[in-house]
Amino acid sequence: MAKLALNGGKAVCGKKRTWASWPISDAKDAQLVAKITKTNRWSYDGPVEWEFAEKFTAYQKAKYGLCCANGTVGIQLALEALGISAYDEVLVPVMTWQATAAACVDVNAVPVLVDIEPDTWNLDLDAVEAAITPRTRAIIVVHLYGCMTDLTRLQKICRKHKLFLIEDCAHQHGAFWKDKGVGSIGDVSSWSFQESKVLSSGEGGFNMCKTKDLFYKLYSLRNCGRPYEAAPPVFGLNKPANMTTTLQSGNYRLTEWQAALLLGGLERLDDQVKLRDSNAMFLNALLEDIPGILPMRRRTEVTQQSYFNFAFRLDTKELKVNNLQFCAALNTELNMPDQFEPPYEPLNNCGLFKPRTKTRHNLSKAYWKAIDPSRFKTPVAKEAHENSGVVAHHQILMNRPEDMELFAKAVKKVVDNIEELRAIKPAALRKKYQALAR
Ligand SMILES: Cc1ncc(COP(=O)(O)O)c(C=O)c1O
Repeated sequence: MAKLALNGGKAVCGKKRTWASWPISDAKDAQLVAKITKTNRWSYDGPVEWEFAEKFTAYQKAKYGLCCANGTVGIQLALEALGISAYDEVLVPVMTWQATAAACVDVNAVPVLVDIEPDTWNLDLDAVEAAITPRTRAIIVVHLYGCMTDLTRLQKICRKHKLFLIEDCAHQHGAFWKDKGVGSIGDVSSWSFQESKVLSSGEGGFNMCKTKDLFYKLYSLRNCGRPYEAAPPVFGLNKPANMTTTLQSGNYRLTEWQAALLLGGLERLDDQVKLRDSNAMFLNALLEDIPGILPMRRRTEVTQQSYFNFAFRLDTKELKVNNLQFCAALNTELNMPDQFEPPYEPLNNCGLFKPRTKTRHNLSKAYWKAIDPSRFKTPVAKEAHENSGVVAHHQILMNRPEDMELFAKAVKKVVDNIEELRAIKPAALRKKYQALAR
């Protein structure tokens, strides 16, 4: 008799079960949003925006910070503030959201795609060192999903080769490395507040930086080139005396309503990060005991881990199924269509990263060739995406500890019945899985 729900067996969770949802807001947020509607401060530089900016920057233990339109633009502004431009090479992990590399091309730089570590899916620092050339100006580290690379070694590499370090923190609001907030470690950091992120205003972004000079530049770049002038001053900074010429830029600002949602979200952030972190550690401990399941590595220097996604790996040699098959079976057991899925498509073969479809990127023959993502070979990322990687959105970690036991039970059930899963033909698997999603 069939055991797996995918084959008609009884699922671990019934359809009626409800789970923590995302995003979250409360009555206080709604009140502040309504209050702003009755004022005449709707756009940028409002009191709520700056209150949020100062509080969020302090929470991450960074020096200066300011809002921008979204996390894609945040990376672009970081690159521009650091003076990265045409033909400069920027090292970018091959496994990330397309924005990290797309922003490089949009400032006419060359994203050099670097492979990842097999157990964190974050930058492989040996591969980083091998990719450095005389043209390299910066490294963008993406703190991906719920893991970090060795940030201490990465800082040393940047110092040795005189490279800027940009942190793409879109996934890890509330994460700390040796008690230092992510986002405070590099020269400039970029954040996303898109709906799915752990701190959200639907859309939105943020930059943090270490120096006044970079803050003034970032301010000006996000605000049509205007010089910084906040009243009352923020971060104790007055209008810069020497900034008489404005910078060429556009409008990359955020509204006061978005800032209101962020201020409310920030009050809840630390408790939510702690809940996810403790649930993730519990779930990892349970998964570790299941044959063929490999939890991700957590470095000892991580003092608080934030999770955009929870991830684990399959030992595909042992299980002899791939991640698509495994996710279809697991989602069916939990009655959660599309919750568990493979990690991002590596950017050297990604449907959403096609820099050579925009003719304005055709600066020269040499540049056109340099921005062809398919020139990079990154076997670790390919394997994780195509075979062994499994991820789920952070909302699964916002349930109760007993629910972590339920997730582990479902994983174990699939592993215990792996022969049954192996026997399902791919076409039949697709059909059965589509029926669940309906
Ligand atoms: C790693 C990473 N960087 C940058 C971004 C871009 O952020 P946004 O969607 O706010 O433009 C995202 C969004 O998903 C992301 O995951």
